[in-house]
Amino acid sequence: MKYFIKTFGCQMNAHDSQIAAGILKGMGCIPAETMQDADLILFNTCCIRELAEKKAYASIGAAQALKRNDRSKIIGVFGCMTQQEKALDTIKKRFPLVDFAFGTNNLYNLQRYIENAGTGSKQYSASEGDASADFLLPPRYGKKPLAFTNIMQGCNNFCTYCIVPYVRGREISRAASLIVNEATELAENGYKEVTLLGQNVNSYNDNGITFPDLLHKVNDTGIERIRFMTSHPKDLSNALIKAMAKLSHVCKQIHLPVQSGSNAILRAMNRRYTREHYLNLIKKLREAMPEIGVTTDIIVGFPGETKKDYNDTLELVSQVRFDAAYTFAFSPREGTPAAKLHDRVHPEVKSERLRKLIDIQKKITIEIHSAMVGKVQKVLVEGISKRSEQHVTGRTDRGRTVNFSGTKNDIGKILDIKITRANINTLFGEKTGGNV
Ligand code: SAH
Ligand code: SF4
Ligand code: F3S
Repeated sequence: MKYFIKTFGCQMNAHDSQIAAGILKGMGCIPAETMQDADLILFNTCCIRELAEKKAYASIGAAQALKRNDRSKIIGVFGCMTQQEKALDTIKKRFPLVDFAFGTNNLYNLQRYIENAGTGSKQYSASEGDASADFLLPPRYGKKPLAFTNIMQGCNNFCTYCIVPYVRGREISRAASLIVNEATELAENGYKEVTLLGQNVNSYNDNGITFPDLLHKVNDTGIERIRFMTSHPKDLSNALIKAMAKLSHVCKQIHLPVQSGSNAILRAMNRRYTREHYLNLIKKLREAMPEIGVTTDIIVGFPGETKKDYNDTLELVSQVRFDAAYTFAFSPREGTPAAKLHDRVHPEVKSERLRKLIDIQKKITIEIHSAMVGKVQKVLVEGISKRSEQHVTGRTDRGRTVNFSGTKNDIGKILDIKITRANINTLFGEKTGGNV
């Protein structure tokens, strides 16, 4: 049986899809190049914003159209979107040819769902699921040299705009011993970088083993580079800053979503920190690691966001000078407290605010990239560049993408690259001969 998995959403979903691929491999399935070629079509869905859901429905519709011509195909939908009863109902109504749908933390049942598909009875379940059971599934890693591993599931924070706590459940931490064993295995098998994933890694706690403790342990496994995401500003401890600065394999990069620069909006978002607290964290991070790369997430147009609130965000962006910012217009998610707020920002105002914010950030990113020209950076080569067969692409310690002339033999090496020019997305460079 040939399978095709289409994944929406964040790294955690991407990682779940890798685990699903591992289960399918165990069942003797092989990957198909395209959806058309596949006997089994799976969708791993996201519902963080309305657009994510729309895209998923459009794709499921395309699969259903294929199945109209070939009834032997199996279609399955899982992930965050189908953890909501309402989305399950929509799937039942709009996509009767979908064989099964289930929510999050339920991958350990995937084989059963597939085996029972086509037996006549449709299978739908949002409520089943056990994150601890998913934690025990055999891990599957990405394409060398990069690997991702889940260290936590769920979220307890209930930011008022966010659907994640409702679809991913409460926070649980994966056993540190499992994570350390995985990192050791990765290093032994030629992987060079592992990204530790969780909605809020700073609140990791395995029977008293905290996130900084875990970083120490993973640092000792022999894996070359360690990254992690996402960090919540309210939980970023001095101990973590100290660990990051000290541990040689931990990349000097942090994704620290600020969401807004206005204290009133931060309060309404239930983020539980102030603008001043956030700025102080940035100061401490940079004092400990002057070259650290900081990226962020920002939402504009949260209900009640005034011009002054918005200007506070712009001002914070100019002050911090992020390497990059992922910017979003507020999208009301049914079931979250913010969806009930009446003081909505007009869609046109939201788009205009988003556009201006993006422009300001672009300018900052360009300036940061330009300042790197002439410097030598250690780049882990990840693969052949998408644009040209003669070029390879990789990332610097602080997470910036660099392209330079190279071959597939460079993949997996950490090379000294002199940056020669830069644009908004990429740095360009050349080899200087040094490598590790
Ligand atoms: N756990 C991470 C982020 C998860 S979602 C954290 O706490 O930072 C990724 C980003 O999507 C969020 O940081 C936020 O900026 C954005 N986002 C979440 N819900 C949203 C909504 N309803 N509308 C617009 N953007 C949203
Ligand atoms: Fe959502 Fe907030 Fe949890 Fe992040 S911390 S996943 S934004 S509720
Ligand atoms: Fe989306 Fe779920 Fe991730 S809602 S952003 S896939 S945790």
